[in-house]
Amino acid sequence: MKNMQNNYEDFKKEVLKLTGIDLNAYKERQMKRRIDTLISRNGFDGYVTYTKAISSDTELKEQFVNYLTINVSEFYRNPGLWDTLEKVVLPNLIKQFGPNLKIWSAACSTGDEPYSLAMVLAKQIPLDKVRIYATDIDEQVLEKARIGVYGPNSLKGLPDEYKKKYFQQMGEKAYKISDEIKKCVEFKKHNLLKDPYPSGCHLIVCRNVMIYFTEEAKDEIYKKFYASLVKGGCLFVGNTEQIINYKELGFGFDKLFFYNKL
Ligand SMILES: C[S@@+](CC[C@H](N)C(=O)[O-])C[C@H]1O[C@@H](n2cnc3c(N)ncnc32)[C@H](O)[C@@H]1O
Repeated sequence: MKNMQNNYEDFKKEVLKLTGIDLNAYKERQMKRRIDTLISRNGFDGYVTYTKAISSDTELKEQFVNYLTINVSEFYRNPGLWDTLEKVVLPNLIKQFGPNLKIWSAACSTGDEPYSLAMVLAKQIPLDKVRIYATDIDEQVLEKARIGVYGPNSLKGLPDEYKKKYFQQMGEKAYKISDEIKKCVEFKKHNLLKDPYPSGCHLIVCRNVMIYFTEEAKDEIYKKFYASLVKGGCLFVGNTEQIINYKELGFGFDKLFFYNKL
């Protein structure tokens, strides 16, 4: 595709207007490569014609957002860290703040993460007290999350006790999550780069999205997470997303991949 490089700056401006997504906040090389592939694959000859198409076709626009926002997720991703969450972090939070915890799963994708949280919490507090606020920028994954049906790959890391208790098998390759767990989670569209953040959170879980952002964007988001947490609250990050400058941001190091607001 000719002129792809020249138009990318204009394309980013158009995308921001059309979708609210600021591509400047994402690592450029990786993102541009993904977008160029998508545009070619869909048979468009460049950014201009593609922008025109997504501005008049809502379905195509949703497809674009869905493609941009890599949605890979699974229940209980990195089991060792969920074990730490269950045995150390949650009991600590419950001891400090009681059972009515405000929990936010940010960039929750298809719901695997907030639903895992609900299951783990249900071992320690009554299910009717478990409330999880779960957000993502991508409407399509949120819709999947609300439906709550998953393939075996999504569940491969989840301990059997949860699988047995909270899933109903539907045919060979589909598992439906129970209504009691579904009821604990409220899904909402939210863009980490521009929408207001909730306040008074005791636990924020934000995993495997920061890797796509530039250093500047990451810093902004961490500052906002800090403001969202109550003192003593905890931020749980992905297992490749250690926060190097956590002290500067006001966090303390609790356990590997868990930071608390001092
Ligand atoms: C790789 S998934 C991670 C899902 C889950 N947290 C996990 O660790 O399994 C990344 C998610 O980040 C979301 N995302 C990307 N940019 C975002 C933004 N600016 N605001 C909110 N969510 C965003 C994507 O839609 C995607 O669902």
